[in-house]
Amino acid sequence: MKNAIMNYALEAGNPYLLGAYAPIFEEIVASDLEVIGEIPKDINGVYVRNGPNPKFEPKGHYHWFDGDAMLHALQLENGKATYRNRWIRTNNFVEEEQAGESLWQGLLGKLAANMGRPWNRGVPLKDTANTAVGFHDGKLLAGWYMCGDLYEIDPITLETKGIQNYNGTLSSKAMAHVKVDEHTNEMMFFDYELTASYLAYGVVNGTGTVKHFTKIPTPGPRIPHDMGITQNYSILMDLPLIYDLNAMAKRGRAIPTFRKDLPSRFAIIPRFGNADEVRWFEAEPCYIYHTINCWEEGDEIVMDCCVNLEPTPQEELPKGSSAVEKLNAYLRLKAYLHRYRFNLKTGETKESRLDDLGTEFPLMNSRYLGRKSRYAYNQRLETSEALRFDAIVKYDTEKNTSTVYEYGKNKSGSESPFIPKPNAQSEDDGYVISFVTDASTEKSEVVILDAQNIDQEPLARILLPQRVPLGFHACWVDGDRMFS
Ligand SMILES: [Fe+2]
Repeated sequence: MKNAIMNYALEAGNPYLLGAYAPIFEEIVASDLEVIGEIPKDINGVYVRNGPNPKFEPKGHYHWFDGDAMLHALQLENGKATYRNRWIRTNNFVEEEQAGESLWQGLLGKLAANMGRPWNRGVPLKDTANTAVGFHDGKLLAGWYMCGDLYEIDPITLETKGIQNYNGTLSSKAMAHVKVDEHTNEMMFFDYELTASYLAYGVVNGTGTVKHFTKIPTPGPRIPHDMGITQNYSILMDLPLIYDLNAMAKRGRAIPTFRKDLPSRFAIIPRFGNADEVRWFEAEPCYIYHTINCWEEGDEIVMDCCVNLEPTPQEELPKGSSAVEKLNAYLRLKAYLHRYRFNLKTGETKESRLDDLGTEFPLMNSRYLGRKSRYAYNQRLETSEALRFDAIVKYDTEKNTSTVYEYGKNKSGSESPFIPKPNAQSEDDGYVISFVTDASTEKSEVVILDAQNIDQEPLARILLPQRVPLGFHACWVDGDRMFS
């Protein structure tokens, strides 16, 4: 299959299947890895990253978001590292594996070609679970950006255990970006359908039961990508990047339209609140892929996130542009650190850009999720050829400063979780970790940085036996939480 995909990639000139993005085909386990420097002995847990890695030659044009999910993990214990990678065996993946070929066309394909296949959330696309990973109630969960099933994964072996529906109490699908409050062990999630006018919101308790679920009406179908939580509230988003259903019907493709004439709307709902308790706040039109953190401060809810003011290509693409040119134009992500303040007393929204550097894929110390935090670890965006991350930017939003760790020439990193030290004394008392791939050598490694000095040389560089293709979201699964 490798050669078929590579021939396809070369012929299409699709950068998201070539070089550092090219899929790999071996699922391996490797221990006793070579380390430059020293792995801190107080790190105990697993760094897991999700991302697209098509198993079969694509049917029709390939979009980066289409690829089957492959997880890459580095398990760290007592100064030793073990690397593993596995595809996620979603139901749709298994169907294709049994057929021995791709059965679905992707986002750039003709949806009509998929009409005979099972639909997922109002679209005939394959649910790959390729987008994000989260950890809750001892379970590693992988999900899909269009709202799909949550797949439970063994955090050590990376084996797909199956769809997690919480003993039948989860009646909807769920967006990949679930939010865990580590103080209460509750998990908040949302769901939508491309053809229905609501945002669904729910809470899973710390023992694996959906305890709350409500549907919030919206003016039309909406496609938010992320949400936020505070100690007492959840924040859902009705943003004016909308799938144009008429254009979809006419042209047979999933085409998002940026409606600059509409505001961005934020629904603030008590954690266990119903639709009639929602407070709506309006702000400038934009699209938000990822929130960093939200918290309560006096009468206000503060939300830090990365904002795109131009989420679709700024200029009309010339007529006759190829599918690959369209793909590149849409993925030329321009996002900036941004803060909203929603005043629950006055109903007023204040917003401000906090930095002019293009960054996205932010993470922070997950123990502070929903509580006031100060630091974020974002990826700096480099988009000259294809979207990639060329540095980690650590933001200090209290001092309004940033520190940068550059991955190096030809090197691209991955979303970088924060690893707290066992007896951390402060929010940034710990480490930051990233899979790094060198496009010139086609080799990968993991870097571990001192979070308080991220611009310094890595504490450890762990050399991996195979290349890790560039991908999407990651998480840190702490050993203490895994076995508690
Ligand atoms: Fe995402």
